[in-house]
Amino acid sequence: IELDCKSLEEEKTAVDAQITEIPSIFRIPQGTLSDKKPSVSSSSLAIPIIDFADLAASREFVVEKVKDASEKWGFFQVINHGVPLSVLEEIKDAVVRFHDEDPEVKNSYFSRDFSKTFIYHNNFELYSSKNGNWRDSFAAYMVPPDRPNPEDLPVACRDAMIEYAKHVMSLGGLLFELLSEALGLNSEMLKSKGCMKGLLMAGHYYPPCPQPDLTLGVSKHSDNSFITILLQDQIGGLQVLHQDCWVDVSPIPGALVIYIGDHLQLMTNDKFKSVEHRVLANRDRPRVSFGCFYSSQMNPNPTVYGPIKELLSEENPPKYREMTIQEYTKGYIEKRLDGTSHLSCYRI
Ligand code: SIN
Ligand code: FE2
Repeated sequence: IELDCKSLEEEKTAVDAQITEIPSIFRIPQGTLSDKKPSVSSSSLAIPIIDFADLAASREFVVEKVKDASEKWGFFQVINHGVPLSVLEEIKDAVVRFHDEDPEVKNSYFSRDFSKTFIYHNNFELYSSKNGNWRDSFAAYMVPPDRPNPEDLPVACRDAMIEYAKHVMSLGGLLFELLSEALGLNSEMLKSKGCMKGLLMAGHYYPPCPQPDLTLGVSKHSDNSFITILLQDQIGGLQVLHQDCWVDVSPIPGALVIYIGDHLQLMTNDKFKSVEHRVLANRDRPRVSFGCFYSSQMNPNPTVYGPIKELLSEENPPKYREMTIQEYTKGYIEKRLDGTSHLSCYRI
């Protein structure tokens, strides 16, 4: 596939030049968009919103909300999370700045090899997926601390990524404490199991699309992470699958979207759900998002993860076999977007 060595940028240039049809590689099979009940907008069914300002009055109240959202939705939005608005704006600007760089600059980072410090790509799962996604992304491991070498990050987003990583790590610490408590475990449990040993950060740019009904910004998937912290702009298009219905994750200024990833569903023996989501393409305006994935696949000493022993009992035997994140990631990339969750491969 020729696209392998090009970037979506070239397609976008074509869009700017007023093409009216998307290249066939981006076309999703007919019926994909309508394979579930119609999307539901925020009025009738809404992703839970949790206000971390409530922590000052009652930690238990917040823990209960985190528990409920993680069990029922696998998704929640957090407001008053402590990451300053200016830092959120700056990281979104950094995505646009990188996107606006000359193609030669961007293409010098073009790769699907995640062992590199910073990679720019579209469709990292291109070899295994049925169709390309209408977005460009870049990604870098910001933790462990010896990665990245700051010099290897593009100037357009270097400072913003380093600054954002610091804030995300502090919010991540709080989230893993609350999630541990929501499981009835010691606050430090998930951290002590190494859930914060790796942080992958990814910036996504979704160009406007002349035929948004024929493709997707990103196809349906669940995340290869313990948890994901996502910042989205005001455009909208992110949807989660809830009770067989696509539900919009409505943008809330200043909010962060938190989702449970596959690793945590496995560790909690299905108590917390790693839920499938997708992003619709849109005709009019570009969309920017920034995802932070807690996942330790770069850890040189792979840890074995399985359902947490303290959560198991005779009535609740392990539903999954053990894995390492490295092994899981390899299978996830090879198999992803074939329509089934990779988690099902680990089910006993
Ligand atoms: C993703 O989950 O892959 C992207 C989410 C987004 O861009 O909103
Ligand atoms: Fe995702």
